[in-house]
Amino acid sequence: MAKPDLAIIPRHVAIIMDGNGRWANKRGLPRTLGHSKGVEAVRETVRAAGDAGVEYLTLFAFSSENWSRPETEVNDLLGLLRRFIRRDLAELHRENVRIRVIGDREGLKGDILPLLLEAEETTRDNTALTLVIAFNYGSRDEIVRAVKKLAVDVQAGFVQPDEINAGMISSRLDTADIPDPDLIIRTSGEERLSNFLLWQAAYSELLFIPDYWPDFDRNLFFDALKVFASRDRRFGGLTNNPTTAVVG
Ligand code: FPP
Repeated sequence: MAKPDLAIIPRHVAIIMDGNGRWANKRGLPRTLGHSKGVEAVRETVRAAGDAGVEYLTLFAFSSENWSRPETEVNDLLGLLRRFIRRDLAELHRENVRIRVIGDREGLKGDILPLLLEAEETTRDNTALTLVIAFNYGSRDEIVRAVKKLAVDVQAGFVQPDEINAGMISSRLDTADIPDPDLIIRTSGEERLSNFLLWQAAYSELLFIPDYWPDFDRNLFFDALKVFASRDRRFGGLTNNPTTAVVG
């Protein structure tokens, strides 16, 4: 199945990839194998999103809270991200995928930041799917950083306090030039946002599916798109607003 036959495709799908550890536990395997199987699901999902005509795919790869996991697991996750960028960058670039990274870049140690910057730089002019990797990302932290930038502009006299509006916050977030997600999917049966895109999710459709992330694939992604197409989005009004979704 190359492309789902749907009237409405979300412009932006964001995914909380959850359940790698439980997938491994269920099979008596080390958690790290759940994470590496999770990378295969990432590859398949990136391809499926591009094929479906989704413009932005955001993946929650590493949260600002994930540093509190045991050091070996943190190192495993960083190693997987490193390998993903080193091994897959050339192919993603060939497929015209643009990579963007959101999250706090301050204080990142070692080769991770240069690798993420290289991925962004190499693919910056690509025009197919934009793959947004949320790394060292926490939504409250992102909002705090945005508010600090705004406070500096207020202090400098560029903005008056009573002129502050939602757009001034949005334009200072890491996602400034990225549309809000139309659909947020979380795998593994957990039903919460866990500090992911809290500001941007104001009108997102939320979909919680029971499957663990390593089992996620093209079919489950297309099933999610079908559920999205059947939802009635009203944005606080009375009718569906068709301008936010791509018809194709
Ligand atoms: C949640 O599973 C998943 C993560 C914390 C990390 C997701 C990372 C990857 C899939 C690999 C690297 C990403 C990219 C973009 C190459 P969990 O460990 O919380 O599972 P559990 O809740 O079952 O313990």
